[in-house]
Amino acid sequence: MIKKKLMMLGPPGAGKGTQAKLLSKEHDLAHISTGDMLRRAKEQGTELGKKAASYMNEGELVPDEVVIGIVRETLSDPEIAEGFILDGFPRTVEQAEALERMGIELDTVLNVVVDEPTIIERLSGRRSCTSCGETYHIQYNPPQREGVCDVCGEELVQRADDQPDAIRTRLEEYHAKTAPLIAFYRDRDKLIDIDGEQSPEEVEEQIQGVLR
Ligand code: AP5
Repeated sequence: MIKKKLMMLGPPGAGKGTQAKLLSKEHDLAHISTGDMLRRAKEQGTELGKKAASYMNEGELVPDEVVIGIVRETLSDPEIAEGFILDGFPRTVEQAEALERMGIELDTVLNVVVDEPTIIERLSGRRSCTSCGETYHIQYNPPQREGVCDVCGEELVQRADDQPDAIRTRLEEYHAKTAPLIAFYRDRDKLIDIDGEQSPEEVEEQIQGVLR
């Protein structure tokens, strides 16, 4: 029987989104990606999007209170709160404590471990669909037609924060603010390390194995 309240932890480009999408389909769990939500808000030009845009483009974390508010609203839906995968949240100890104050107890935190050269290779080769958000990699998961989304036929672009300067800032933010969550969840006996250096299929297989 699969555990149902999951979180993907790991540095930028570790493959959290790729695995969260697969798990969500396979086990009918809500995929809650704060990065996707913020990007959508940015594209739609909402107040939230305007607030988040400058932080995201630079590779900095959006302020805790903004992100905690979106997640609290999403998890206030009882159907979603029953089974979900958090992807990119919590990202700071303050966010993790806020999640606990919401009365949400995670079953398992999947910590996807990759080294820095892999992160840089994955982020610089990633292409994302401007319309449906599907993600590709020019080498590891290329679209059938270069620059065109297989799912909806729209244009593929490189994310603004996948440029070298922003990648550097994201890595600094990860080490300073997100990596402390490894100890936070290890102390609570929730953390399981996943070897993210393997192929997407092998990573998926390892995750399915630990959840079984
Ligand atoms: P977010 O979108 O969450 O970015 P991230 O954590 O940096 O993660 P990524 O989406 O870059 O990578 P991923 O691990 O999902 O990798 P993916 O599967 O795409 O956040 C963006 C920004 O929003 C933040 O910088 C911040 O400003 C803001 N934000 C979001 N949440 C926040 C929060 N809680 N608090 C504050 N601010 C927040 O894979 C990467 C590439 O590798 C793809 O091309 C993929 O095809 C390929 N790939 C994946 N797995 C493999 C594999 N096993 N082998 C080979 N290639 C692979």
